Amino acid sequence: MKKKIVALIFAALPMFGFAANGAYPLDKVNIDLTDKAAMQDGLKTFANYCMGCHGAKFQRYERVATDLGISEEQMMENIVFTDAKIGDHMKSAMTDAQAKQWLGVAPPDLTMVARVRGADWLYNYMRTFYQDTTRPYGANNMVFKDVGMPNVLVSLQGNQVCADEACTTLTIEPGTGSMSAAEFDETIKNLVTFLEYSANPVKLKSQRIGTYVLIFLVIFFVFAYLLKREYWKDIK
Ligand code: HEC
Repeated sequence: MKKKIVALIFAALPMFGFAANGAYPLDKVNIDLTDKAAMQDGLKTFANYCMGCHGAKFQRYERVATDLGISEEQMMENIVFTDAKIGDHMKSAMTDAQAKQWLGVAPPDLTMVARVRGADWLYNYMRTFYQDTTRPYGANNMVFKDVGMPNVLVSLQGNQVCADEACTTLTIEPGTGSMSAAEFDETIKNLVTFLEYSANPVKLKSQRIGTYVLIFLVIFFVFAYLLKREYWKDIK
């Protein structure tokens, strides 16, 4: 009986995976939250290409600078384009009202988006914008059908188009982007690493604390065991 239940659970697993991802198969991305260079690069991309519309308003510039190992000056000079101060929240340059007027839909805040969507989804979302002239901004997306966001990284990735009639795969028109496919993938991986950090700023610290707690428990167990032996010695 037990075996049957286990078999049933395993049989059902792919179904859930499929349902969560939709029809388009997601490439996996391996995020390393100890890679500060990756997060710094991701922050740069985020400031340059995303913050015109999106904010990360639950983060402060100061905290991000500290966590990512960059100085206050570097942060102010290279990342902060608005009149924001180092202690301010990372708000987008656009107000919600402006965004609604210009884009029809307000771009959501991205501080927590990695928790909601997951790293794999984000990695694929940012790499699968493609040309679709039937859409208001001339772009569509493989994992977010009829998305309201324009293809903002087209100058880096190049013009991506459907490779076949049914549009099951995509291809990039040669010579249209400033980055190679590998470079673009790396840029997006770094961007997703930054977003993953942003959604879990204490993850690094809590992992460390978890390790200390385990070490403490092991040591404590040894002493507790020795003490127990000592107490029971005479009784037996
Ligand atoms: C021109 C404005 C604009 C820029 C620039 C922009 N976005 Fe967007 N983005 C939008 C809009 C509008 C939506 C909402 C789309 C919808 O709901 O159909 C959106 C949606 C998203 C979503 C989906 C959120 C969700 O869970 O529904 C993600 C993720 C995202 N953007 C990431 C980015 C990243 C990363 C960048 C920078 C590389 C960026 N965006 C740049 C306008 C923008």
